[in-house]
Parts: sequence; structure tokens; C-alpha cells
Amino acid sequence: MFEQHIYIERRKTLKTKFKSGLLLFLGNDESPMNYSANTYNFRQDSSFLYYFGLSLPNLVGIIDIDENKEYLFGYEYTLADIVWMGKQPSLNQLANRIGVEFSEPILNLKKFLQKKIKDGVKVHFLPLYRGEQKLKLAELLDENPFKINNKFSKKFVEAVIEQRSVKSSEEIAEIEYALEIAYQMHITAMQMARHGIIERDIVASMEGISRSLGNGFSFHPIVSKNGQTLHNHYHDNQLQQGDLLVCDAGAESYRFYASDITRTIPVGGKFSAIQKDIYEIVLTAQKNAISSIKPGAKYVDVHLVAAKIIAAGLIQLGIMKGNPGEAVKNGAHALFFPHGLGHMMGLDVHDMEGLGEELVGYDKNTQRSNQFGLAYLRFAKELRPGYVLTVEPGIYFIPELIDQWKAKKKLKNFINYDKLESLKIFGGIRIEDNVLVTETGCKVLGRPIPKEARDVEAIVNG
Ligand code: GLY
Ligand code: MN
Repeated sequence: MFEQHIYIERRKTLKTKFKSGLLLFLGNDESPMNYSANTYNFRQDSSFLYYFGLSLPNLVGIIDIDENKEYLFGYEYTLADIVWMGKQPSLNQLANRIGVEFSEPILNLKKFLQKKIKDGVKVHFLPLYRGEQKLKLAELLDENPFKINNKFSKKFVEAVIEQRSVKSSEEIAEIEYALEIAYQMHITAMQMARHGIIERDIVASMEGISRSLGNGFSFHPIVSKNGQTLHNHYHDNQLQQGDLLVCDAGAESYRFYASDITRTIPVGGKFSAIQKDIYEIVLTAQKNAISSIKPGAKYVDVHLVAAKIIAAGLIQLGIMKGNPGEAVKNGAHALFFPHGLGHMMGLDVHDMEGLGEELVGYDKNTQRSNQFGLAYLRFAKELRPGYVLTVEPGIYFIPELIDQWKAKKKLKNFINYDKLESLKIFGGIRIEDNVLVTETGCKVLGRPIPKEARDVEAIVNG
């Protein structure tokens, strides 16, 4: 946890956005894996963490705007629980830790809420992403659990997004720490990327580092020689000399902040000529995208900077053809770069995605494109100082996508389909760093993890 005053100040700022109503923060509960007592690792809801800081199940935070009171509802542990779990803090002690005046047993919450509703008080709540939380809140508010998510408060979501989007110095320090863990993880992955090793051996070593230095991975890692599959979580391939290993993994700090880094590693320590050519295009796209990040720039335009460099590079290699600007305008680059440049990052690796990608990444000045590729951009709107984003362009040769486009002769004026047959076994390359938008430009966060081709080769070679 951060110091108490940070949570008090965060709630105080949020309160200024509301004139009346009740703000309800539903903390997460334990989630069973295969039977009730055998649960997944507990992960608190990130908005609850942001305002109420406590990483324990069965908690609900309430801010009563009209009466200017704050409450923590929760479970008071019994002696029977303590026999199994050890000594637990009382609810009152928990509330004190975060500067909340009132604490109440969770069994009283329904009565409390129903009285407020009867008195005409609006209960604002955030969108829910877990089934059991929908059931719980529906029961508390007498709503249909299948429809409750239609009733979230947009005003509340917008206020939370506005606040959580701008990272404070203590949040940046946490992200930098998560990046230090990622540094250790990725250097280890490079050192291990030798002929004969199984992908899962690298995953296991990275996970060990992430667990010993923090809370483990910030998301299921992608460690695959089939990097053309963007979110490939299959880790049972044996690596061969000459494979390209896409390694996309990040850690969670003790205070639950994420890092998210990708490096693409030549197994055995030497990029082939074509691998190096494609690698240099992705690296140039990534560096130029980073150089274009500054307050006021729209992230969709930064995405297009990367897309144009990718198109120009592939044209130079004879894989694409025509004019790069025209190719990008028509969406031809998306055959090779079908995803967005990046996303916000903070307490969630895709920060606040649980509150709705549209509300995080788009606004009235920036509408989502419906063009294949560009439509997947998670974050497109104008950048502001304090935002933290990933910058992660890539080039992939996805056989199924190539075959489909080729059969339709899609955008054939921009794509040399004949050149693509031999590249269907290429795989993919992605390079990702995490960037803070500053007052004048941006700063790449964390200790630099080697990304020049020769530097990555040198580490693989020991
Ligand atoms: N690093 C995986 C992702 O951003 O989706
Ligand atoms: Mn990412």
C-alpha cells in the first residue's frame, strides 16, 4: 500500500466531481479454480485498489456524497477463520489504514443501500467483469444480474478514468520497479534462447523472477516461436537454431502496478538476413513512434507513423508495393501489422480496460475506425502529460490471413502476394516499451532492455 494520505487525497479529488449520490466500489472476492476452497490467486479490483488500497476479498467501499461520509463494508473474521488463516485485522483497523471513518459488517450493506435507494439517492457503480460480482451487486441492488452491467454510471466511469489516467510520481516509481523486474526477466529469456530449449522453460524462469521480486506476471506471457499468433499462450514448442522467439511479458509490482515489454530474440544468437531486415523495420517504426509522442498528439496518429514506416520498409523489401502513404490509407499494412500500437498501462496492464476500452481510449474528438487493423487500436485519443502507454509495433506473417487476402486479391496493388509464400513460415516480430508522456515529449520508462539487433544477439551468445 501507499501511505494513507494518498488514498484520502484520491477520494477527495473524486468527490469534487459529484454533487450528490453514492459511489460504490465493489472489491473482488476469492474466485474458485476447481472447488470453493482452492482459489485462483486473489487479485483486487484495480479501481478499488486505487481509492481504497486494501488487497483483501469481501470489501465494498462507499462514498456518500450527500452526507460527506466514507464507509468500508466488509467481513469480520471469526475465530474459526483465524484457526485456518492466522490473525486477521479487524474491519475497523482496515478502515483506519486508508483513512475511512466508518466500517460496517457487509451483512448490513443491502439494508443500507436499499434505504438510500428508497430515499431517492442515486447509486453509482462501475462496470463489472466477473460473473460472481454481477450476482453479488444484483442481489444488493435488487437488479437482474444479466442486465446489471447496462446500468453502470458513465459519469462515475469518466471521473475514475480521468483520474487514473494521469499517473503520479509514486505510481511512476511503481511502474519503474515493475520494469526492473521485466528487465531481469527479459535478459534471462535472451540468455536462455538456445537450440533445444522448450519455450515453457523460459516461461518458468521468467515467472520465478516475477514472483520472487514482485507479485508475479502482470498478464499471461506470450513466449513463442509462433509469434505470428498475437496472443500465443502455447509454450510447449522446442526451439530450433534460427527460430524467432517473441517474448512478451511483464511483471506486477508489490503495489500491483504493471510492466509490459516485448523483445524478439534470434534463437541461437544470429538473425538471418531477412529476419534482420524485418527486425530493423519494426525497430525503426517503434523508435519513430516513440519520438512522435508528446502532449496534444493523438495516439492514432502515432500509430500511423509506425504503420507508414512498416509499409515503406516492406515496399523496399519488395513485399509490399506502391506508395507507403496510400498503402496505409487503404489499410494494406494491416496484413502485416493487424493490431494497435499500444494501450494505457498502470494498475492494469491494459489499464482500466474493465471500465470499457471505448471510454478509456476514445472520446468525442476521436472515433474508432472500422478499417481492419486500425479498428483494434485500444487507445487513439489525444495524449496528456502523465499518461503511460505501451509502444508495440510488429510485423507478422499470418498464413491464414495471407491466404484469405490472396484468394480475394485484396489490395493487390499494394501487396506482392508471390513474395509471401516463402514467408508464411517466418513467424512474427514485435518490440515493446513503456513510455510516460511528459510536459514536452515522452520518456521511455525503466532500465533500457537491449533492443538493437546486435545487442540482443550478443546477450544470446553470452
Ligand atoms: N502484452 C500483451 C498485450 O498488450 O496485449
Ligand atoms: Mn502490451
